[in-house]
Amino acid sequence: MAPHVYIEELARHEGQEVVIKGWLYNKRSSGKLHFLEVRDGTGIVQTVVFHKDVSPEMFAAADRLAQETALEVTGTVRKHPKLPEHEISVRDLRVVAAPTQEYPIGPKDHGTAFLMDHRHLWLRSKLQHAALRVRAEIVAAIRGFFDGRGFTLVDAPIFTPAACEGTTNLFEVGYFDEKAYLTQSGQLYMEAGAMALGKVYCFGPTFRAEKSKTRRHLTEFWMVEPEVAFMDLDGDMDLAEDLIVAVVEQVLGRRRRELETLGRDPGRLEQVKRPFPRITYAEAIAILQQAGKEAKSGDDFGGDEETVISERFDRPVLIHRYPADIKAFYMKRDPEDPRLALCVDVIAPEGYGEIIGGGQREDDLAKVEASIAAHDLPRQAFEWYLDLRRYGTVPHAGFGLGVERTVAWLCGLHHVRETIPFPRMLERLSP
Ligand code: 4AD
Ligand code: MG
Repeated sequence: MAPHVYIEELARHEGQEVVIKGWLYNKRSSGKLHFLEVRDGTGIVQTVVFHKDVSPEMFAAADRLAQETALEVTGTVRKHPKLPEHEISVRDLRVVAAPTQEYPIGPKDHGTAFLMDHRHLWLRSKLQHAALRVRAEIVAAIRGFFDGRGFTLVDAPIFTPAACEGTTNLFEVGYFDEKAYLTQSGQLYMEAGAMALGKVYCFGPTFRAEKSKTRRHLTEFWMVEPEVAFMDLDGDMDLAEDLIVAVVEQVLGRRRRELETLGRDPGRLEQVKRPFPRITYAEAIAILQQAGKEAKSGDDFGGDEETVISERFDRPVLIHRYPADIKAFYMKRDPEDPRLALCVDVIAPEGYGEIIGGGQREDDLAKVEASIAAHDLPRQAFEWYLDLRRYGTVPHAGFGLGVERTVAWLCGLHHVRETIPFPRMLERLSP
């Protein structure tokens, strides 16, 4: 019996007979030949059914196969006559399962709502398949980066008793007789982790009840959050830059074909080299004003502002030292100008928006206590966090990188809904 081989490994089996297990992606015929495009999750291969190689019944049956028929194809691997890939000369075809009805996603154009309703099937399409492979590579690159630098993975909880990133977009859930919130960020727990293990990161889903519909917001998104003891804002910015460079390099090295399928110009990504520009918030405001935007100090940046700023640079730009008033309670203030926070946002090029938010944390007990009060946060829920300032507090810093926006940027996808297998948004909870 011929061995089962995955399509991405076909080149190693040239001249051999193999079995491909997959689904019919596309079909065309020219009298004596049927060309069946078969996909198996690792790629798509053209299989050629020649009327002289198979029985008349099998030849006729091949012509009737419907899109997404599950198949086992046995045949010989050959070089494609025109393309730099391989094809299969079919000797035998076995239908594992014929669709019970017509597959809803055909070659014609479908609207976004229709495709999103059929997300569970849409994942089988070429572009979606490529985007998910790039996403998986990004996740692998992130893990490899931190694991390779001696960070310890510390998983943060999903049910939390308090807000980390402001109270306006919390998802409240019943927790027996109490209220809990789905986590907005694992940061506070990573601060505890950093004091225990030095260099830590968490990587998991985070939740925000985002009521606005934008191309950059999901209600459930994945974030990687490193946190390092004895690190300041400059060290934090270096770490963010190193991470982004490592991720882009790995994707360029291992997922070029997927980028090509997505129509993503790798040249833009090849420019992502150290050093990244670093500008202050005040400089960012000046850029916006020069571009004719109405911007004044104290404004937070939305997608439009981020796009204008990113267009000035060919690689990600780090914006540091925002006014403390528009940032979270845990930020350390700049000793040079206490109105400013020692924070940094990283804005992706080409208008893909903020991919990283982070900074140095306030390490002084009295200042954190005052900030919790000033932000009207429930003190009781933060007592454990204050313990971190009571027992050997040290300067520390970290950040969160949003996976979906990073995928959107690297894949060149306009909307984050195509960057995660099953997106959750204001008006989307299924499938
Ligand atoms: O800037 P944010 O809110 O930072 C934090 O949560 C910090 N506590 C992280 C830390 O320092 N450990 O979020 C970080 C990143 C953003 O830059 C963005 O990439 C992503 O998370 N993000 C979202 N992605 C998709 N949909 C949303 N609704 C997002 N909100 C934030
Ligand atoms: Mg942010």
